[in-house]
Amino acid sequence: MPTRTSLERKKMGKLKKEIFTIEANRELAPSSWLLTLSGDTSAIAGSGQFVQIALPGKYLRRPISVCDREGGKLTLLYKVVGAGTDQLSKMKTGECLEILTGLGNGFDVSASGMNVLLVGGGMGVAPLYLLAKELLSAGRKVQVVLGFNKDSEICLEEEFRALGVAVTISTADGSRGVKGFVTDAIHTLSEPYDYFYTCGPMVMMKAVCALCPTEGQASLEERMGCGFGICYGCTVATVEGPRRVCADGPVFTKAQLGWGAPQEGGKA
Ligand SMILES: Cc1cc2nc3c(=O)[nH]c(=O)nc-3n(C[C@H](O)[C@H](O)[C@H](O)COP(=O)(O)OP(=O)(O)OC[C@H]3O[C@@H](n4cnc5c(N)ncnc54)[C@H](O)[C@@H]3O)c2cc1C
Ligand code: FES
Repeated sequence: MPTRTSLERKKMGKLKKEIFTIEANRELAPSSWLLTLSGDTSAIAGSGQFVQIALPGKYLRRPISVCDREGGKLTLLYKVVGAGTDQLSKMKTGECLEILTGLGNGFDVSASGMNVLLVGGGMGVAPLYLLAKELLSAGRKVQVVLGFNKDSEICLEEEFRALGVAVTISTADGSRGVKGFVTDAIHTLSEPYDYFYTCGPMVMMKAVCALCPTEGQASLEERMGCGFGICYGCTVATVEGPRRVCADGPVFTKAQLGWGAPQEGGKA
């Protein structure tokens, strides 16, 4: 699989509005659903990009990260948190969804070193799955830290293990793996890493950026209007000035975000 820089993806970037058909929509863990769709995935350039799903009766589309994209199939992992995702969880095989694809810059795989650490929290594990596949195809060694509140919420662990990557689990209540947060799990890693990618709650990503002494990338989440750069509703502050999460991101480097100088305690 060829690797592309974010800039190349932006240049390639074409947005598509397509009808997708639901192949499967199943609950993986309480309130966490895996949605498999068939349709035209050609506008999706790679991991870290997202789609915007139109739901009947809802004015705004719902942004969801691309978890996997292979052979005309699109896989999304989503948590039911409100009316839109609840509506989505009730949809059945064979029903159709109008989806905008090709959104966001995506992770820059070419920026990483040879030994890569992926750190996901909650639904933030979703985009890291396709990213792991891309990094492995590019010959990188990958280790993954996945953080959840408790054992029953763990998602995609087996899927990551099936890729052949080392997986470390943390749970806040200690019901599986390392007790505590992903940062506690990072302290237990024995393999070195020279680059990281992270996705999850903002507070988690900031802590990961502050702990890991290497450069890395974080995928941000913001409320969105248009989802493709027109409304400026998703603007965040970066060291380079205000940036739109939907069009300039959602992936930003640790340096762009100014999230923590290198600190003691990592395994670089
Ligand atoms: C780039 C990006 C990627 C995302 N990827 C995933 C993913 O892979 N899996 C997943 O479960 N969730 C993901 N989210 C969060 C997901 O968009 C929200 O959980 C979802 O929109 C909630 O919709 P709702 O109608 O159920 O909730 P409501 O609270 O009823 O939604 C009301 C409005 O607020 C917006 N909203 C609510 N929560 C969020 C949020 N956290 N982020 C952005 N908008 C929000 C909704 O889109 C909607 O417009 C992502 C968000 C962004 C910005
Ligand atoms: S959501 Fe409209 S510019 Fe980002």
